[in-house]
Amino acid sequence: MSPPRRFRFTLVLFAAVAAPVAWGLPAYWATLQKVYMIQPDTDVANAQCLTCHVKPPIRNAFGKEVEKALGSAESLTAEMLHGLDSLDTDGDGISNEVELSKGSLPADPLSKPKKGVPAVRPRLAPDPPLIPNHSFHPLLVHFPIGLFLFGGFLDVLGFRSRRPSVREGATWNLSFGALAGLGALTTGLLARWRMGFELKGLIEVHFFLAITTTVLMGMIAYWNLRRKPEGSAYWTCLALACAVVAATGHFGSLIVHG
Ligand code: HEC
Repeated sequence: MSPPRRFRFTLVLFAAVAAPVAWGLPAYWATLQKVYMIQPDTDVANAQCLTCHVKPPIRNAFGKEVEKALGSAESLTAEMLHGLDSLDTDGDGISNEVELSKGSLPADPLSKPKKGVPAVRPRLAPDPPLIPNHSFHPLLVHFPIGLFLFGGFLDVLGFRSRRPSVREGATWNLSFGALAGLGALTTGLLARWRMGFELKGLIEVHFFLAITTTVLMGMIAYWNLRRKPEGSAYWTCLALACAVVAATGHFGSLIVHG
């Protein structure tokens, strides 16, 4: 690839990853800042997202109340926030309105409005922005799905049309698919840990399917790399592996897109 094309590719890739992140997320923080005129060097100013989050996307007690106030609305309004003014979310005896307007945290009983005392630093620092919490899992997962399914297709095609070169191509796709699967499993575990998701519900189903996928894909790749397999045991295993890859992707996308 010539440098300008590579540059363009990088730009498109960057835009595809950065746009949803830059667009969707900081809006609530901006609204909160504006509505309560958050001053610099207050607990809220230092905590930013952590005013509502334990660690994005996990909501703290105040974040959960904001979520309730939001209901099915698309954006956060001043009225919704003021609807929570009379509550004392952290039970420290000071209402949310007083806390927020003085820059102390509504979900932390240790953070109270102070005079003349420097603001307390939040105990949870945001993650370094270099490697996002999703750890590039959403980017990587398309490779095992695409490569492996295409490899399966090529293998059947090559077998039926008796063209060894096509089956050779299938071996490459299946093997790189299996390798990418290992990468997807690793980044997936990292993402789950860093985003603080509990291993239950959809996450649990996705996790166990991902383990099964990785094992099956590894077997298929090993089989292919040793000697081009023929028997019905191989075809059954290949069909099963393709089905489980697809199911893993399906449950993964349910987690992200609901
Ligand atoms: C005023 C409270 C508040 C602030 C401040 C806030 N959030 Fe949120 N955030 C919420 C609520 C409530 C939800 C859940 C409702 C929703 O997704 O719209 C949420 C959802 C999220 C999600 C999950 C999105 C999804 O689609 O499920 C992420 C990620 C997130 N916030 C990140 C951030 C980051 C990063 C910041 C700081 C720039 C931030 N939030 C600031 C209240 C807040």
